[in-house]
Amino acid sequence: MASSLFTFFLTTFLSNFLPLSVLSATVLEDLATLTPPPDFATTITTNCLHNPLLRYCNNTSSSSPMNITEIFRSTIVASHLCNESKNPNCIDSFPKIRIHGRPKTAALYLSFDFFWKYCPLTIVEIQLVNNSLKSEFPTNVLSCAQIRTLDLSYNQLTGSVPVQNLSRLTNLTHLNLSYNRFWEDKILNSEFFNRFNASSFIHSGLLPDVKRYKMRVLVLLVVFPIVVILLCCCLGWLCLKRPDYLPRTCRRRSHKFTSAMLDAATDEFSDQRLVSKRNGVDIYRGTLRDGREAKIEVYTEKVSKAKKREFEEECEAVFKLRHKNLVRVLGWCNSRNLRALVTEWTNGENVEAWLNSSLASSWRRRLRVVMRVVEGVSYLWEQWPEVAFDLNTRSVLLSGDDQEPLISQFKIGDGNNSSTNIFNFGLFLLEMITNLKPNEEQEDSERRYLEYIRVHCPGNVERVVDEKMKIEDRTLEKVKEAITLGLMCTDGSPLKQPSFMQIYDMVVSLYESSSRHH
Ligand SMILES: *[C@@H]1O[C@H](CO)[C@@H](O)[C@H](O)[C@H]1NC(C)=O
Ligand SMILES: *[C@@H]1O[C@H](CO)[C@@H](O)[C@H](O)[C@H]1NC(C)=O
Ligand SMILES: *[C@@H]1O[C@H](CO)[C@@H](O)[C@H](O)[C@H]1NC(C)=O
Ligand SMILES: *[C@@H]1O[C@H](CO)[C@@H](O)[C@H](O)[C@H]1NC(C)=O
Ligand SMILES: *[C@@H]1O[C@H](CO)[C@@H](O)[C@H](O)[C@H]1NC(C)=O
Ligand SMILES: *[C@@H]1O[C@H](CO)[C@@H](O)[C@H](O)[C@H]1NC(C)=O
Ligand SMILES: *[C@@H]1O[C@H](CO)[C@@H](O)[C@H](O)[C@H]1NC(C)=O
Ligand SMILES: *[C@@H]1O[C@H](CO)[C@@H](O)[C@H](O)[C@H]1NC(C)=O
Ligand SMILES: *[C@@H]1O[C@H](CO)[C@@H](O)[C@H](O)[C@H]1NC(C)=O
Repeated sequence: MASSLFTFFLTTFLSNFLPLSVLSATVLEDLATLTPPPDFATTITTNCLHNPLLRYCNNTSSSSPMNITEIFRSTIVASHLCNESKNPNCIDSFPKIRIHGRPKTAALYLSFDFFWKYCPLTIVEIQLVNNSLKSEFPTNVLSCAQIRTLDLSYNQLTGSVPVQNLSRLTNLTHLNLSYNRFWEDKILNSEFFNRFNASSFIHSGLLPDVKRYKMRVLVLLVVFPIVVILLCCCLGWLCLKRPDYLPRTCRRRSHKFTSAMLDAATDEFSDQRLVSKRNGVDIYRGTLRDGREAKIEVYTEKVSKAKKREFEEECEAVFKLRHKNLVRVLGWCNSRNLRALVTEWTNGENVEAWLNSSLASSWRRRLRVVMRVVEGVSYLWEQWPEVAFDLNTRSVLLSGDDQEPLISQFKIGDGNNSSTNIFNFGLFLLEMITNLKPNEEQEDSERRYLEYIRVHCPGNVERVVDEKMKIEDRTLEKVKEAITLGLMCTDGSPLKQPSFMQIYDMVVSLYESSSRHH
């Protein structure tokens, strides 16, 4: 039966129109050059009349109508493939397609869709073994629905196997998909699986691979825990050393700085970052990881455990301060080898420098600075009496466009002393008026300085008042009052010092009167 069908398919064309001698060297050359003989269409029709079962005879059942050119081309491919597959007698029968270990040839023939569409009915065996095929399952071979053997082993086919279409090939008894890279499929013990057997799917990728399964178990039991442990270590290290690398929401306390963080912010406390070095406090200008600039005050003195706890408490207190005239504390570091306070970096100039600029030429402007400083100090004394600060013309900065005075130096670990604070305020006030400072190089400089002012006050006040301020007569009285206040504050005995409440009231009244005159 097969033989007779085949006879209709090939014998007629090949012996009558395309004797093998006509075929040139390659299938591609033949496809390009050969054209159907004039009576080809009639032959096909005759063939179909004799045997309507021939695959190319069905006009309607196939999606496209009968295509004479394609049928002709498929006969060319068939004759070449018959020869390539070493069929014994290509004139009489064409039972098998067999291409082993010839990747290019196999891929070329698989690409002739028209050939597979009109797949000769005599073919019962297709073997495309060891051809390095890298595509998905070559579904066009399934057009040869009559095949009994399909061997695609030793290729690199991937993707899924069209199990349903394969199941429909009722004559297929021998299937081999071994040694491929198909995706794993749930075919184990399915009808399809039982129809063939496990030796059809060796290393095909379709069945769960015991080795791979073992690998997975190994990964799950060994590698995974190791990875988790490593991750935990990393996270722990980050938490301890560089919490600024953690997302903000994961950080428990963003005001806690570690020494590693401050190391990074100051290029390992490099000299370029050092701003000043005084009384056991080194001040650095640092850049935090989020880009903010910060002033980092490092306390270099080695202290006891108890002192470290005090340091922590004081830092906690200053961290809570919120006032427009107090510098904002960002956090602190109190680790084994480093104690430091981190505050916002302020770009403004300090009052000492400001006093020499033209901006400081009016009494009113100077009083405004004093007023703001007093407001900041008053906030501290009322709400945070334990917080010590350093008040002088260098530590008060004028920040921003509106030149807001900012007390920028806290004194951690010094303890607070209200008499000293009032003394410092008095000195600050006198410097604001006179633009003169105690000469630090001299011994006993503050006493000499105060003595000098006291000599000229109140009779000869003009001598000590900064000339840059154009003082009118009516304000001179107020300036005198202010100098008197400064001298009271700096009086040697604490008993004669005014209380802070008194200072506050006097500064307010001076400030208000200067506003009125304006
Ligand atoms: C062609 O179609 C007829 C019915 O139209 C069918 O019986 C026959 O099996 C088909 N032949 C092939 C080769 O598909
Ligand atoms: C196929 O269709 C053509 C017209 O398109 C028709 O002449 C021919 O008889 C048909 N062949 C068969 C086998 O139905
Ligand atoms: C026949 O097939 C060829 C190539 O596949 C195509 O170029 C041609 O248009 C088709 N002819 C018809 C009538 O469908
Ligand atoms: C058929 O195959 C033989 C070797 O098997 C080869 O010598 C011959 O050239 C082939 N013929 C064609 C037309 O490819
Ligand atoms: C596959 O073909 C190559 C040559 O192309 C050959 O060396 C190898 O032994 C073949 N492998 C198998 C399993 O047939
Ligand atoms: C496989 O079967 C599906 C229907 O189950 C059909 O749509 C598809 O065309 C078939 N594929 C091949 C290559 O025969
Ligand atoms: C299966 O083989 C039988 C016997 O050779 C044949 O009659 C039948 O047409 C074949 N089935 C298919 C789907 O080709
Ligand atoms: C699997 O099938 C092949 C042929 O289809 C047969 O030779 C072999 O013995 C079978 N193996 C098992 C384990 O059933
Ligand atoms: C499929 O091919 C592999 C490798 O050649 C072989 O070990 C296996 O027995 C074959 N399976 C069948 C069912 O022929």
